[in-house]
Amino acid sequence: MNQRSNFTSKLGFVLAAAGSAVGLGNIWRFPYLAAKYGGGTFLLVYLILAVTFGFALMTAEIAIGRKTGLSAIEAFKKLDKRFGFLGILASAVPIIIFPYYSVIGGWVIKYFVTFATGNVAASAGDTYFNDFISSPVEPLGWFALFIAFTAIIVLFGVQKGIENVSKFMMPVLVLLTIVIAAYGLTVDGAMEGVVYYLKPNMEDFSAKTILAAMGQLFYSMSLAMGIMVTYGSYMKKDNNLESSVRQIEIFDTAVAFLAGLMVIPAVFAFSGGTAENLNAGPGLMFMTLPKVFNSMPMGGAIGTLFFVMVFFAALTSSISLMETIVSIIRDKTGWGRRFTCIIVTVIALIMGTPSSLGFGIWSHIAPLGMSILDAFDFISNSVLMPVVAFFTCVLVGFILGPKVVADEVKVTDGKFKSEKIFTVMIKWIAPIFLILILASSIATAMGVFSL
Ligand code: PHE
Repeated sequence: MNQRSNFTSKLGFVLAAAGSAVGLGNIWRFPYLAAKYGGGTFLLVYLILAVTFGFALMTAEIAIGRKTGLSAIEAFKKLDKRFGFLGILASAVPIIIFPYYSVIGGWVIKYFVTFATGNVAASAGDTYFNDFISSPVEPLGWFALFIAFTAIIVLFGVQKGIENVSKFMMPVLVLLTIVIAAYGLTVDGAMEGVVYYLKPNMEDFSAKTILAAMGQLFYSMSLAMGIMVTYGSYMKKDNNLESSVRQIEIFDTAVAFLAGLMVIPAVFAFSGGTAENLNAGPGLMFMTLPKVFNSMPMGGAIGTLFFVMVFFAALTSSISLMETIVSIIRDKTGWGRRFTCIIVTVIALIMGTPSSLGFGIWSHIAPLGMSILDAFDFISNSVLMPVVAFFTCVLVGFILGPKVVADEVKVTDGKFKSEKIFTVMIKWIAPIFLILILASSIATAMGVFSL
């Protein structure tokens, strides 16, 4: 058993958890989902879910970790023998996410290099992005490079260094996002996009909106995969759990919100808010932002800086993904750290390659009617995570009782302000909701409706 070191301060804990939470999910994934699922409608649903459901689940996970002092697989088993499977299910999630996350991480490096070498104007061309992702070899190279960065950091255990750097980079990233968003808003046509992004329109509302928002919530806050359980196991008893959860949530949501404000109005201003443009999916940020940078004073420099920051945000998240996988495998097999890192790297390279090729020479392969990357994303975020979240609710709500979590929250100062909401959420609203969500994702997978 590895020795468990503690975060020295509450701030340290919050920053480490936020480092895992804030990543491509906020900057790349949130804006394209919001664009696709009705803008303001999606935003509203997401915010409601974050403060109710996200809050309850994150509190439960961190409390379970801190109470048991164990990582997910062991923690669930210790709390109830019948729930050992939950830890295993939760571990499958990062194994699915890590490879395709690295494909997108590779795109970020590619754009950084493009900007750093002064090719802003070329990258703003209409076909630049598609030409890039559809070429068979180039994206694979960037993808491998991104994995290599992650693997080297995990292998040498220098996470601390990276975390220190990103502590300083995160605020800069937020600032840059605000500057870019503010500039974008001054361009003709952007206001229409602001309205689309901020104003809910009930015509856009459907089960799909909730399904997409829920999947995004899990993904963005690194929930339902045991990561927060592990982080909780490192948290000290005298750090206030409730306010830490609030801070992580607020920070994570604020970054996502700003990223949406940066991308969506720019889509309207630079490409036009047509259905086709709004439905662009995973490529949206990469197609839109170069146009913004290209028209912006000092756009080349700002764009370069922006992609470096996004790279660091992505790296802190991919490190937490890979670290989780490595420690799960090591706990099970007793393998050495280096050997396990190599195995995980090879597996990730093999699993991520189809996701990358799916935008080019393998685009005819469309599992569940989606691109290969979208299909992996769907399986983890819309199927596995709701299942894990459901059983976590059952475990906490009915087997252990919400009081166990509430008591853990209260350890610090005897208070749990949102205890009532927490109890109702974890026992009733969340599980019922999750069943509905699962039913709709199964219906989607079976082609009853398409996303
Ligand atoms: N939450 C991260 C993001 O928003 C992604 C991630 C998921 C990281 C799961 C770790 C675990 O980018």
